[in-house]
Amino acid sequence: MADPTDFVPQHVRDLDVYQPGKPIEELERELGISGAVKVASNENPLGPSPKAVAALPAALAQLHLYPDAGGFALRRGIAAKHGLDLAQIALGNGSNDLLYQLVLATCEPTDEVLSHRCAFLSYRLAAQVAGRPFVAAPVTADLACDVDALIAAITPRTKLVVLGTPNNPTGSVITRGGMERVIAALPARALLVVDEAYCEYAAAWPEVDHADGLAALRADRRVVLLRTFSKIYGLAGLRIGFAAADPRVIEVLNRVGRTFHVSSLAQVGALAALDDDEHVQRSARHARAALERLSAEVAGPAVRVYPSLANFALVDCGRPSGPIYDRLLRRGVIVRPMAAWGLPNHIRVSVGREAEMPRVIATLVETLAG
Ligand SMILES: Cc1ncc(COP(=O)(O)O)c(C=O)c1O
Repeated sequence: MADPTDFVPQHVRDLDVYQPGKPIEELERELGISGAVKVASNENPLGPSPKAVAALPAALAQLHLYPDAGGFALRRGIAAKHGLDLAQIALGNGSNDLLYQLVLATCEPTDEVLSHRCAFLSYRLAAQVAGRPFVAAPVTADLACDVDALIAAITPRTKLVVLGTPNNPTGSVITRGGMERVIAALPARALLVVDEAYCEYAAAWPEVDHADGLAALRADRRVVLLRTFSKIYGLAGLRIGFAAADPRVIEVLNRVGRTFHVSSLAQVGALAALDDDEHVQRSARHARAALERLSAEVAGPAVRVYPSLANFALVDCGRPSGPIYDRLLRRGVIVRPMAAWGLPNHIRVSVGREAEMPRVIATLVETLAG
C-alpha cells in the first residue's frame, strides 16, 4: 500500500523532531527512584508569580467567552511598563510562536534566517518548518556569538538575524557594542530579532556589559524584541510571550497570527505578573547566587562551567556527557544533555530551588569526578 504521506514536502520530511523530556513522575517510575530534582528546562524554581496565581481564579468564571483577540489590557500594560506604544506590541502563544510568525510573515522562499552554531534550536526549526534556509555562523572559542563571523555570514538574502541574549544554552550575552555593530551591518531589507527570554535574569549582573534590546529598538526600527512570561515570571504552562517592534512590523506579524491563540487565562496571568517586581527581583537574585555557587564548586581539570547571566549554566564535562547524564539521572538529578546542540561533551544545568542546590551541586561534583 502507498505511503499516505508520500506527498509531504521534503523540508517537512527533513525536520528534526523535538524530543521532549519525560515528566519527572514517569522517570521516577522507570528508574524506581523518588524525590528526583529536575533542573533541565530553565523554568523558575521559585514557582509562578504569586500575583498571577492570585488573579487567575476570578477569570475562571469567564471561560465560556473567547479571549480578547486584540489582547488589549495586556498590551496596554506591557506598553506602559516599557515606555512603548500599544501598536508596538503583539502577543504570542509563547515567544517561540512569534518567531515562527515572523519567519512566515517576512521570508520569501530563498530568504535566509541567520543565527549562530550555539543558538537556541528553535531558531533553526522556525526557519526549517517554513522551508526557509537557516544559516549558522561560527561561534567564538567560548561558544559565544562571534560578532565578526556573524556579520561575515550576512548575505543579500539575509532577512532575519536572530540573537538570543542571554543565549540558551550558553548563557552568554551580546555586548552593547556588539549589538550596535550587528545593527550597523544589517542589510536594508532585514530585521534583527533580539530574543530576550532571560533578560530579567541578566539585570542581576549590572557590572557585566550586555546589550539592551529596548534601547536598540528605540534607536532602530529594524529591531524586533521577543520576551516571554515563561521564564522569570514563572508562567511557562500558560504559554504567553510578546514581540515589541515598529508598528508596521507588528501589523505584518499579526496578519499571520491565528485568531484567539492567546488564551484568556494567559492574558490575565501575564498582566498580573507584569507588576510582580518582587517575584522578578527575588528570582533574579536567587539565580545569580545559585550560578555563582555552581561555578565556584563544580570544578575540575577538564570541567568547565560557562559564565551565564540566565537561570542555567552550560557545563563542559571534558568527556562525552551521555554516560554522565545517565549517572546523574539514576541519582535523581535530571539535567539536559546537549548532543542535539552539537555539544556531545556538555550538559545544561538549570538553577534549582534553594533547598535543592546543595544536592544538585554535590551530585554533579561526585559524578564528574567519577
Ligand atoms: C532563548 C529562548 N527563547 C525562547 C524560549 C521559549 O519561550 P516561550 O516559552 O515563550 O515560547 C526559550 C525557552 O526555553 C528560550 O530558551
